[in-house]
Amino acid sequence: MSHPALTEELVRETLRGVKYPGFSRDIVSFGLVREIQADAASGNLMVRIVVATNDPRVPQGIKDGATAALEGIPGVGEIDLRIDIQNPPNAQASGGGVQAGERQSEIPGVKHIVAVASGKGGVGKSTVAANLALALAATGAKVGLCDCDLYGPSVALMFGVRAPVVADDDERIIPNDAHGIKLMSMAFLLSSDEAPAVLRGPMVTRLTQQFLRQVNWGELDVLVLDLPPGTGDIQLTIVQTVALDGAVLVTTPQEMALIDARKGASMFAKTNVPLLGLVENMSYFVCPDTGKRYDIFGAGGGEREAARLRTKLLGQVPLDIATREGGDRGLPIVLGDRQSPITAEFMKIAQGVRKELGMDF
Ligand SMILES: Nc1ncnc2c1ncn2[C@@H]1O[C@H](COP(=O)(O)OP(=O)(O)O)[C@@H](O)[C@H]1O
Ligand SMILES: [Mg+2]
Repeated sequence: MSHPALTEELVRETLRGVKYPGFSRDIVSFGLVREIQADAASGNLMVRIVVATNDPRVPQGIKDGATAALEGIPGVGEIDLRIDIQNPPNAQASGGGVQAGERQSEIPGVKHIVAVASGKGGVGKSTVAANLALALAATGAKVGLCDCDLYGPSVALMFGVRAPVVADDDERIIPNDAHGIKLMSMAFLLSSDEAPAVLRGPMVTRLTQQFLRQVNWGELDVLVLDLPPGTGDIQLTIVQTVALDGAVLVTTPQEMALIDARKGASMFAKTNVPLLGLVENMSYFVCPDTGKRYDIFGAGGGEREAARLRTKLLGQVPLDIATREGGDRGLPIVLGDRQSPITAEFMKIAQGVRKELGMDF
């Protein structure tokens, strides 16, 4: 049967209605649709989709969605839908028997990539990422910190660095040096009057990928990624762009935050990124005047959640005035006060991360 309206464009538009399973973005804008052939004479069409995943439910979901959408094109003929499944960058993690220390990142020269993530904003993820990076450096590791939050880059502020970055001969971005670690933030690239909030989904994906690939990190033991809050498209992009060795989830102890942390854990599980552990931030408060401890958001939330997620509670960071001030004045607590119990807790968290990564001491 002839089908004059059947064009590649029509097929592509139709496939825009198919979401990547579990996410809000469609498979076309994610770049999964690699080939479309539409034959107006016969009404037949061929679509090739490439997806990187270990989870069989993902290609199945895409197949079901795409088939239903394509069959909905009036007068369509035979549909040849091909789904190629590639190994995701984190594929090695799925075996379970693989030693963490053996796994390779995709970024040349970088031994381990760790994401610091949270289900929601404002739980202190950037604070934990910055202090964890510095604590790892204090254990003798060569460390980089990359602020991947395009909408609210705060790492630059936390380190008091605003120097614009320059490119090397290969047009790769040279990160800033700050307090002995290599630092890269979207804030170094965007001028303050550029409003990143206007960036739309596909553009954010592309920027994030470039951002991750085009930085010349040099030799690093650990690259810490401060992920944007949430479990949406940007997080998925990052997880699909680099081979993460693992993720550290930051949460506060309230039930509401724990629910979001669970979403984060499930996103990493779906994408085969091992959970290295949980950091409970704003855990409790020690009154400076009396030394009395207050469990403002209740006690034991992080502990229970770690058990529930079958992961470790890497540490508990209390609500602390100096920690907040350190972040605001460009000198994170781990650097600003080596004697602080908070610094000790971040050192413990760093040791825990090293252990989970299989890094030798
Ligand atoms: N343990 C803490 N004690 C006191 N203030 C904190 C603590 N952790 C984070 N903060 C403060 O809370 C605010 C949000 O923290 P931030 O790290 O930017 O969160 P996120 O990156 O999750 O949005 C910042 O002002 C930060 O200084
Ligand atoms: Mg942040």
